[in-house]
Amino acid sequence: MKIRFKTFVSLGLLTTALLCSVTTEAQDGATLYKSCVACHTIGGGKTVGPDLKGVTKRRTKEWLVKFIQSPVKIQKAGDADAVALFKEYNNMPMPDNAMTDEQVVKLLDHIDGGSSGAETVDPLAAASQHRVDSILKANSPQDIQVGRELFYGTRSFTNGGVSCASCHNATSDGENRGGILAKDLTKVHSRVGGFAGVKGFIQSAPFPSMNQSYKNAPVTDDEIAYIGLFLKHTDEQNATEPAKSSAWMISYTLVAAFLIVAAILLIWGRRRRTSVNEEIIKRQEKISK
Ligand code: HEC
Ligand code: HEC
Repeated sequence: MKIRFKTFVSLGLLTTALLCSVTTEAQDGATLYKSCVACHTIGGGKTVGPDLKGVTKRRTKEWLVKFIQSPVKIQKAGDADAVALFKEYNNMPMPDNAMTDEQVVKLLDHIDGGSSGAETVDPLAAASQHRVDSILKANSPQDIQVGRELFYGTRSFTNGGVSCASCHNATSDGENRGGILAKDLTKVHSRVGGFAGVKGFIQSAPFPSMNQSYKNAPVTDDEIAYIGLFLKHTDEQNATEPAKSSAWMISYTLVAAFLIVAAILLIWGRRRRTSVNEEIIKRQEKISK
């Protein structure tokens, strides 16, 4: 009786486990594909990267697994198709994906059976898309201003991400500030193919430092639209990439140098004072003894 009960329980557990694995497997392809939508469509045309419809017929499975796991690696290995593809997309990097071979195969199955997603829109996403479209279409000075404030950090992001200007610089309306850790974004709007490109980079940047900044603090769709408008504005205002503001960089270096010297002086000064004090105290002690 006892044994039978045990068998019963373990059979039950086994079935549950099997059922669970079936459902997660079914979800996996679609879930994994979420990190690709910023740059790809399935049948919706070329955006930041190529349209993935029919890609499993264009390329072998082995090639796709290798490419998706690390596009740069296969390109560096000199694979002719990868090299040509990178050339076609102006060497724009696609991020590596830490996926097992099986996961990539599941993802490819999803792409095989997937549509552009038009049939499976969820109402929230549709509403958000609609709002973004109207923000972009209106292109109003107020919205550009919101984008500017978000970019420079005078307005905070809903989810608390750091401002773009902590790393990037952009020039508009005589204002030229921001960080020098990353590229100047004044002309980025046309450089990456318009709003879709800017959005792709914000949502899944193929650069670790930028990606980490927004991984747990995603920029909302509306905020991306405002920043997109601002960067379109800076792009239109400046015919060419602005010259690096060297004066600004020099003053920054001076401030840094000043701080370092001040810190050294402070530490040195303190040390000296304590040692002089100590000497006096020691002397006093000796006298009083
Ligand atoms: C930041 C943008 C970006 C993201 C995110 C991205 N890709 Fe790409 N992808 C590209 C670009 C750009 C290319 C063209 C080659 C190049 O320059 O890297 C490309 C090329 C490809 C190709 C080759 C297509 C062909 O015609 O041969 C495949 C397959 C692919 N990506 C799959 C994926 C999958 C799957 C994901 C999600 C796990 C993904 N990509 C995420 C930008 C991206
Ligand atoms: C922690 C630093 C950091 C932050 C914050 C950051 N980025 Fe980046 N971003 C980078 C780095 C690094 C690159 C890679 C190019 C380079 O080295 O300059 C990059 C590249 C880009 C590119 C592609 C540039 C090109 O010409 O190929 C775009 C577009 C971009 N960032 C937009 C943004 C926007 C918009 C924000 C704010 C929402 C932002 N970034 C915030 C570090 C950052």
